[in-house]
Amino acid sequence: MRKDKVFFNIFRFHPDTDKKPFFQKFEIPFIRKDLTVLEGLYYIQQRLDNSLAFRSSCREAICGSCAMHINGKYRLACNTQVSKLKSDTVTIRPLAHMPLHKDLFVDMNLFWEKYEHIKPYLMRGKPLQTPGEQSQSPGERAKIDILTDCILCACCHSSCPVTASHEKYLGPMALLNIDRFVSDSRDGAKEERLAIINDEHGVWRCHTVFNCQEVCPRDLNPGGSIAHLKMEIVKNKI
Ligand code: FES
Repeated sequence: MRKDKVFFNIFRFHPDTDKKPFFQKFEIPFIRKDLTVLEGLYYIQQRLDNSLAFRSSCREAICGSCAMHINGKYRLACNTQVSKLKSDTVTIRPLAHMPLHKDLFVDMNLFWEKYEHIKPYLMRGKPLQTPGEQSQSPGERAKIDILTDCILCACCHSSCPVTASHEKYLGPMALLNIDRFVSDSRDGAKEERLAIINDEHGVWRCHTVFNCQEVCPRDLNPGGSIAHLKMEIVKNKI
């Protein structure tokens, strides 16, 4: 791998002007040894082609905005160092299974609708006997520690072959996030939540391929959540 320059091979498509998508190659200087893919995209947008479209915000692997397909895997552009890819060329495609707006910028409306569908907020059920804060023991909190780490980047959604073929399948992101509330001792709507996912578009549609676990930038395990939810449905006779 050359140390002074790197090539970015980027998926391009502008629906108003292009008949079909194509890849465009850019050569950029290897400014620093820890240059990230996102910094490379900004270099191109600011110095070589300001029409390049992509999403990003925090640049710290927290907001989940910059997920894309980079050298064969869905990753966050902001925490992927070019040097770690071990190639002279960084090939970038947009997230999959979503309509394309332009270049690397996709329409995530369906993804957000799935998130909204699982009611991603605490529901109390019965009113509290004593008003005020609802406490949680360290052991109860530990059950949701990892589940609350999801940054909704859609890497799992795009890597899932079932999501590709069944548009209505809730998918790994929504199912992991419903497990986050089913496993929360403060939530009082377990049965309602399990009923939401106990159909042909819910947990039973998962084929346990585990691509979701492999690509998650936070090392989460949506497949484990899906297995847990299936057990809860059976245990609670939903
Ligand atoms: S820009 Fe926020 S996760 Fe990459």
